[in-house]
Amino acid sequence: MTAGAPRGETTETTTSSTTTTSSAASDAAALESDLREGFFDDPPTLPPRWFYDEKGSLLFDQITRLDEYYPTRAEAEILRARAGDIVGAASTMVELGAGTCEKTRVLLDVFAGGAGAGGAGAAGAGAARFVPVDISTEMLFESARALATEYPGLRVDPVVGDLTALDGPLPGEPGGRLVLFLGGTVGNFDETQRAAFFAMLRGTMSPGDRLALGFDLVKSPQRLVAAYDDAAGITAEFNLNMLDVIGRTVDCTGLDRRDFRHEAVWNAEESRIEMWLRAVRDVRIDFPTLGRGRDLAAGEGIRTEIARKFKPDALVDELADHGFCGQAVWSDESGDFGLALVVVDQGA
Ligand SMILES: C[S@@+](CC[C@H](N)C(=O)[O-])C[C@H]1O[C@@H](n2cnc3c(N)ncnc32)[C@H](O)[C@@H]1O
Repeated sequence: MTAGAPRGETTETTTSSTTTTSSAASDAAALESDLREGFFDDPPTLPPRWFYDEKGSLLFDQITRLDEYYPTRAEAEILRARAGDIVGAASTMVELGAGTCEKTRVLLDVFAGGAGAGGAGAAGAGAARFVPVDISTEMLFESARALATEYPGLRVDPVVGDLTALDGPLPGEPGGRLVLFLGGTVGNFDETQRAAFFAMLRGTMSPGDRLALGFDLVKSPQRLVAAYDDAAGITAEFNLNMLDVIGRTVDCTGLDRRDFRHEAVWNAEESRIEMWLRAVRDVRIDFPTLGRGRDLAAGEGIRTEIARKFKPDALVDELADHGFCGQAVWSDESGDFGLALVVVDQGA
């Protein structure tokens, strides 16, 4: 099964075991491409996918449990309240950027039943298929192994893949797919990237397939900044870890995490949190394989993440432009987080 696998990698899956030939060379090529794309701009930028080596994934899991990080709790509240509506009559669930699949279990309980339910969920015994897609190989396979044990009636087919470059069509029967894109990860795209993502995703789906999209809502800048700059410093470590990932993945000199500090700022004009790695002294970083380098003066920053915050209906209107028809938009009781359920239009 190749849908969702990044170009240049192959992934083979079975119900109980998974092997991948994901190579260091393809990671290096992907990072070099991202460096060329954004690192030599002003300001320099890097896409958030480079947070997620094994350590970064574990740090993100810790972030989801922090007092300051409300999105995970708020989204889980919505999933608990609406699980039946979301799962509906789906026969295949595909989760993009699945991570630990912790919250997904709320839906899997309905979809496939738990071990205690003998594997009989809404999809019917033996009929339910779950395809978690993630760039973070170790985390993905560990989650898939755990799910296969917890849900004996579920077929779990993990795919190592870049969710921004799905090959499509997605696995599963056309019209019976439910795609999950949770955690507010859609906020990591700017407007142009979001439009490209929705268009690409639509191209991998068929009429009747549905998408459940979690998104963070606008709220006080103080709460937003605290969620991305926690008192225990876990998010700071998560951000700085990207420098270690880069140093390990491509040939470079002059890159030292001690030369940078984490910063989270609210950009009101763009309605987004931005995470930066701010140079604390003048630095020069060279990438011999790219034949390029760049100076960063003390105080200059590298933007490592944007996290856009939305008004409740904004995304439904955007999705409609790409052939997705709105079925529902829910939020948690405090109005902190939103979840949109849309279906690919029969006429689209
Ligand atoms: C913010 S976390 C959300 C995790 C989980 N969905 C949740 O709601 O808690 C983003 C997840 O997407 C994955 N990810 C980030 N960029 C990706 C990409 N380009 N392709 C595939 N997975 C990606 C990360 O490894 C991580 O598991």
